[in-house]
Amino acid sequence: MTDTRLAVPRHVGLIMDGNGRWAKLRHMPRSFGHNAGMNRMVGLAEHARELGIKYLTVYALSTENLASRPQEELDGLFNLFRKYFKSNVKKLLSRGAAVKIIGDLSALPKDIENLLKNGEAASPENAEFTIVFAINYGARSEILRACNIAVENGKKLDFNGFENLLYTGGIPEPDLIIRTGGEIRLSNFLAYQSAYAELYFTDLLFPDFTDAEFDKALREFSARERRFGNI
Ligand code: IPE
Ligand code: IPE
Ligand code: MG
Repeated sequence: MTDTRLAVPRHVGLIMDGNGRWAKLRHMPRSFGHNAGMNRMVGLAEHARELGIKYLTVYALSTENLASRPQEELDGLFNLFRKYFKSNVKKLLSRGAAVKIIGDLSALPKDIENLLKNGEAASPENAEFTIVFAINYGARSEILRACNIAVENGKKLDFNGFENLLYTGGIPEPDLIIRTGGEIRLSNFLAYQSAYAELYFTDLLFPDFTDAEFDKALREFSARERRFGNI
């Protein structure tokens, strides 16, 4: 159910943390937690779309995750991405929503890279709702990549020019970033774009982060005063 009193941010970033611990509490393998997390993400994306949020950026895999997690866990995550892109993304697209990917896809298995790129290519322009997947995403790599493109182009840039070189070029900056799982950090998520984002942290593990909890975060966001340096 949609709560009409909620202020609706244009762009919400979601750091979906705590899947592994959620599984461990149930004496299950970490993959069980990732599966539950994926299902919760699908539910939240639908909820965000119904609320009128325009962009939901979900942190699905960091550059650090790809570099450091056991191959078995990564293979499980890849299978989940495959499943998601083959079924749910099609559903989203059929409803006029768009999909965008941020991150370095070249390091992923080729079939996943293709699935993600095809999903992006099939997306409408000016969709009312866009889900942005951060996969093999890291803010530091994103910023460094933009700097290198700028150097190659050999021209000084203004903010607008620089922002267009980030993976998120054309997407408004996040108004609210939510992190589940109890850690109070951004873990290399949207470092440049979050300069004025409101941050919301919850101890809930991601599979337990219900639509009602998402609404609670939005209510807290509504109550915050965003001054942007003004008085
Ligand atoms: C977040 O959950 C999902 C990914 C990083 C892919 P974790 O896998 O980090 O879960 P915890 O933090 O170990 O509980
Ligand atoms: C952040 O979670 C990355 C994602 C949710 C994809 P991590 O579990 O990787 O973060 P750290 O290692 O606790 O900082
Ligand atoms: Mg974690």
